[in-house]
Amino acid sequence: MLRQTATRLTRPCTQLRLLIRANAFSTSPACFANRAVVYTETGNPADVLRVQSYDPLPPPPSDSVTIRFHLSPINPSDINLVQGVYPVKPAQLEFSGQQVFVGGNEGVAEVVDVGTAVQGLRKGDRIVVGKPQFGTWSSHRVIQAQDVIKLPSRGLSDVNAATIIVNPPTAYNMLHSFVELKEGDWVLQNGANSAVGQAVIQIAARKGLKTINFVRKRPDLDNLIASLTELGATHVFTYDALADKSLAKHVKQWTSDRPIRLMLNCVGGKDTTAMTRLLGDNAHLVSYGAMSKQPLSLPTSTFIFKNLTAHGYWQNRWYNEHSRQEREELMRTITDLKLKEPEHEILDLSSETSDEAATQRLRETFVRMEQGFGKKVLLRL
Ligand SMILES: NC(=O)c1ccc[n+]([C@@H]2O[C@H](COP(=O)([O-])OP(=O)(O)OC[C@H]3O[C@@H](n4cnc5c(N)ncnc54)[C@H](OP(=O)(O)O)[C@@H]3O)[C@@H](O)[C@H]2O)c1
Repeated sequence: MLRQTATRLTRPCTQLRLLIRANAFSTSPACFANRAVVYTETGNPADVLRVQSYDPLPPPPSDSVTIRFHLSPINPSDINLVQGVYPVKPAQLEFSGQQVFVGGNEGVAEVVDVGTAVQGLRKGDRIVVGKPQFGTWSSHRVIQAQDVIKLPSRGLSDVNAATIIVNPPTAYNMLHSFVELKEGDWVLQNGANSAVGQAVIQIAARKGLKTINFVRKRPDLDNLIASLTELGATHVFTYDALADKSLAKHVKQWTSDRPIRLMLNCVGGKDTTAMTRLLGDNAHLVSYGAMSKQPLSLPTSTFIFKNLTAHGYWQNRWYNEHSRQEREELMRTITDLKLKEPEHEILDLSSETSDEAATQRLRETFVRMEQGFGKKVLLRL
């Protein structure tokens, strides 16, 4: 690993010079370090992303606060955005006179400075950002007070707070918006070990629903099955099980002929097509991701003879179509569910004193993530 003993120097802020040394920094109360994961052109994240330090931030304007991000996850949609294949605009910012895109759509932060006209927020408050694509892969940022959502000081871990905007609401809404499910009903899903999948299993179990979950084959499969079962999964299979003709018979036995009416798909491709054979009449297939990058084809006969309905779901659209009050209500509902943290690892780049070393570690992580079978990665800058 490249580790530089040289310091990460920034330029003066209100006559005071911020000096950040290896693993220790001192700062005036008026200016804050400013580091971010940025890119100037779209492409493979392991090639185009870099960690960059900029001038310290000036004190916030009167209607704004300065926030310090503690954790910001790397979600598949963040990766798609860097690749240039996601239909929203990334955060474009000017730091130290340079125009850059900043990655990251969600994260948990602490208020570290408050504009003179801001009410209802204080230094030390824990917040999440209420507007999409803010560029949360940052250390410090200035944000208008109206764009932050204050979190309760207790009851939500930093990891759960950092990931509360995207995945659990997606899981919750998909389980509630398409079919009215009653206790004892069954739900089928793929990508079951994803952060969304883990939330689906838990929320379904709380509602008394049973889940049949599909994951990819891997060396530590037994551990994965055990951990998903502990979350509340009823059955966990690899996609290979779909080739076994007896699976449909078993499913009929387990469900006592109660038709499965909801299937959640974030993978696509042939395995997803095969899963639809397990659905009963009048079922709803909700597609919300395409991790295999394969198209999804559905037999016409399933539409005709089983009356299948296929939908897409996008949490972004839900946020655009709902008021701030409704968004906060959903966040409270998720908080009250007290979900277990998604399986995760923290990539702490704040200890890297040089941007080059931090960039190298970041890029290595993206290469590893591309290989699959990993945990959700959260950044600390
Ligand atoms: N539409 C929406 O509003 C919305 C909202 C949230 C998330 N999503 C989507 O939901 C999906 C999961 O997101 P997340 O944040 O929960 O994911 P995550 O925790 O980062 O996990 C990624 C998941 O994708 C699986 N995967 C990766 N490559 C795969 C492949 N080639 N074939 C099959 N599975 C593959 C992984 O399985 P392994 O462990 O086997 O690698 C893992 O289960 C993504 O597609 C994301 O874009 C959509």
